[in-house]
Amino acid sequence: MTFAYGQEAVLDGVSVAVEPGEFVALVGPNGSGKSTLLRCLLGLLAPTAGAVRLFGVPPQSLGQRWRLGYVPQRPALARDLPATVEEVVAAGRLARTGWRRRFRAEDREEVEHAMSSVALLDLRRRRVSELSGGQQQRAFIAKALAGRPDLLVLDEPVAGIDAESQRRFRDSLTHLVEEHRSAVLLVSHELGAVAEDLDRVVVLRRGSVYFDGPPAELAATGVSLGVHRDDLPLWLEGLVAPGDVRH
Ligand SMILES: Nc1ncnc2c1ncn2[C@@H]1O[C@H](COP(=O)(O)OP(=O)(O)O)[C@@H](O)[C@H]1O
Ligand SMILES: [Mg+2]
Repeated sequence: MTFAYGQEAVLDGVSVAVEPGEFVALVGPNGSGKSTLLRCLLGLLAPTAGAVRLFGVPPQSLGQRWRLGYVPQRPALARDLPATVEEVVAAGRLARTGWRRRFRAEDREEVEHAMSSVALLDLRRRRVSELSGGQQQRAFIAKALAGRPDLLVLDEPVAGIDAESQRRFRDSLTHLVEEHRSAVLLVSHELGAVAEDLDRVVVLRRGSVYFDGPPAELAATGVSLGVHRDDLPLWLEGLVAPGDVRH
């Protein structure tokens, strides 16, 4: 597919597939089109050319929305949201069970598990609007996890989250992939902790797919994942010359 906001294509002839149960990381310099690609995948933007299929259908036609979980790069700050952490996470579960059905023990367990996996159990009765940005972000991650989606799409979910919460969150991601065979598409600068669990890494560069394959193959090209300096991942050094990164 190809996508342009204006005259110039941001994504130019990009082809990417995520199979059921696959854990895929999407990486690339700032401005390389990662968030745009996710928004096209979710049906929030329509490609200028080409097509997107989500579970075999155009994103707009997807009936069972719970099959898709999405944590956007910067969720709207929940300043006016009167709900508690637990209610927000339970809403993620309700998307799957249906609003009219009674919550079962199993649903409660999923909600507990999701809150625990981002270390939010202590804050469960607090209003989301009273939490810090990082804590709110964790609440929205837990909401997405609680629905046990078939595909979970996360756009830089750990930015601004402390190390302990990041570790727990990664454990719950790998659990989701291994136990529930969910597919995960993760955009993140910090892949060090999950590098071993990834099935594939897709590297976007200037609107095109620069690399698509197992992390070991990427490492063999001299590009390393996860370690970074000054917020610019070190792996970029094998990929781009200084001043070559478009913002
Ligand atoms: N809403 C928008 N309108 C116009 N240009 C945009 C918009 N969002 C992103 N862009 C531009 O598209 C390019 C890709 O952006 P983005 O998909 O956010 O990249 P990434 O997520 O990899 O940092 C950038 O040049 C960015 O400035
Ligand atoms: Mg982005």
